[in-house]
Amino acid sequence: MNVAILGTGYVGLTTGACLAYLGHQVTCVDPDANKIGALQRGEVPFHEPHLEDLLVAARPNLKFTMDYSEAIPDSQVVFIAVGTPPGVGGAPDLRYLQAAAEGVGERLGPHFTVIVNKSTVPIGSGNWVGALVRDAAERRGRGKDCFAVASNPEFLREGSALLDSLYPDRVVIGADDPRTAEVLYTLYRPILDQTFQPPAFLPRPDRVGGVPLISTDLASAELIKYAANAFLALKISYINEIGQLAEKVGADISQVARGIGLDARIGTRFLQAGIGWGGSCFGKDTAALVSTASEYGLDMSIVKAARDVNRRQRERVVEKLLGELKILKGRTIGLLGLAFKPHTDDLREAPALDVARHLLERGARVKVHDPVAMNRFKKEHAGMDVVMASDVHEVARDTDAVVLITEWPQYLDLDWESLASVMRTPILLDTRHAFDRGRITRAGLRYITLAG
Ligand SMILES: NC(=O)c1ccc[n+]([C@@H]2O[C@H](COP(=O)([O-])OP(=O)(O)OC[C@H]3O[C@@H](n4cnc5c(N)ncnc54)[C@H](O)[C@@H]3O)[C@@H](O)[C@H]2O)c1
Repeated sequence: MNVAILGTGYVGLTTGACLAYLGHQVTCVDPDANKIGALQRGEVPFHEPHLEDLLVAARPNLKFTMDYSEAIPDSQVVFIAVGTPPGVGGAPDLRYLQAAAEGVGERLGPHFTVIVNKSTVPIGSGNWVGALVRDAAERRGRGKDCFAVASNPEFLREGSALLDSLYPDRVVIGADDPRTAEVLYTLYRPILDQTFQPPAFLPRPDRVGGVPLISTDLASAELIKYAANAFLALKISYINEIGQLAEKVGADISQVARGIGLDARIGTRFLQAGIGWGGSCFGKDTAALVSTASEYGLDMSIVKAARDVNRRQRERVVEKLLGELKILKGRTIGLLGLAFKPHTDDLREAPALDVARHLLERGARVKVHDPVAMNRFKKEHAGMDVVMASDVHEVARDTDAVVLITEWPQYLDLDWESLASVMRTPILLDTRHAFDRGRITRAGLRYITLAG
């Protein structure tokens, strides 16, 4: 099939690369000249494991352009994968979605086109996009009845985006008529039936047979995405709240989490106590869910509580350091990790940024390090008055405490004896429960976590 993808961010580019790998003819469109220029030269504009390899493998079926006219008229399926960043009052900012919908409407071909909301969009956006496309098509005298809007929410996780896309837990398709659903079903068939030859660098996990398809109406598909993200966010905040109690009663939160998670009804994933969630999705999507519910007179008290707990976890980092050091003014604190999680350079809503800000506000000097996100940090947070350390030793040198923020594998096997020897005060605050207390203590450091 001919497919257009609007937006070459984490979601759009991953979707485009995967669909092209499966044999579809894909044109990716983005107004960002730097991104399109890089992609045309064969460069990947952000860090995502194996994306470069998959783009090479799919290259014969892929085109990149800034021009909607090169993509829309010939496409049977148009994915909208533009950003929906947080707006005022919790509702997402839909200006990119609006521009995309209007741009599609103005260029629709004469054949039936399925326009797919892959961006995470508020419930009801399917209808709204439909109206925008219809109006734009009418203004240009295009085939205003020759299209339908579907919802196909994305569940990929940055850092494992390709695995999540080729071997998903499920595919959700929301459409209000069978013809539309059928087009997407055909498009995704190789993934649903797992009939494609896996790339050598992304072998099919053993557990993956057929992938379940949830074929539903538009509103249900839109709600599934928000409800899934909010549930994962709740799980994280729940274990962090239990972690606070564990600290008070002297319990080991890692053992508690394991004891809870091995109950098959609960599951161990997303049950690691720590600094909480970051990234572009959970914060924005929980805020949007609360905002949508309030339009219907509903108070999402559980989701609101999860948000509060998450915000508090970042403040607790500073409280913990204050508890140890008593005074932060004039102290030097080293942060290991800037990205919101390992295997990505995405800094959106990264806990490290809030922690650095809180520390700077209290007069501390902050040194930072990240294995892949340093360049991006320099570009996006040039105004932040921190020291960019060239390596982990540089972070540790003359610091009063080191804080592990992102559990990059590179940080998990460090020579702590040697790091402790260059620190002013050998304190490690492990906000991810990533280290073994005994190992760190034997290396001569005081080991603390957010839960004890
Ligand atoms: N990043 C994730 O892990 C993830 C996971 C699931 C769902 N989502 C959702 O997917 C959507 C995209 O997220 P992302 O992280 O890929 O965003 P992103 O910010 O990485 O990428 C968005 C891209 O859209 C482009 N864009 C803006 N206006 C455009 C237009 N009119 N036409 C074409 N392109 C345009 C931007 O230039 C940018 O390259 C969001 O709604 C997000 O909530 C993201």
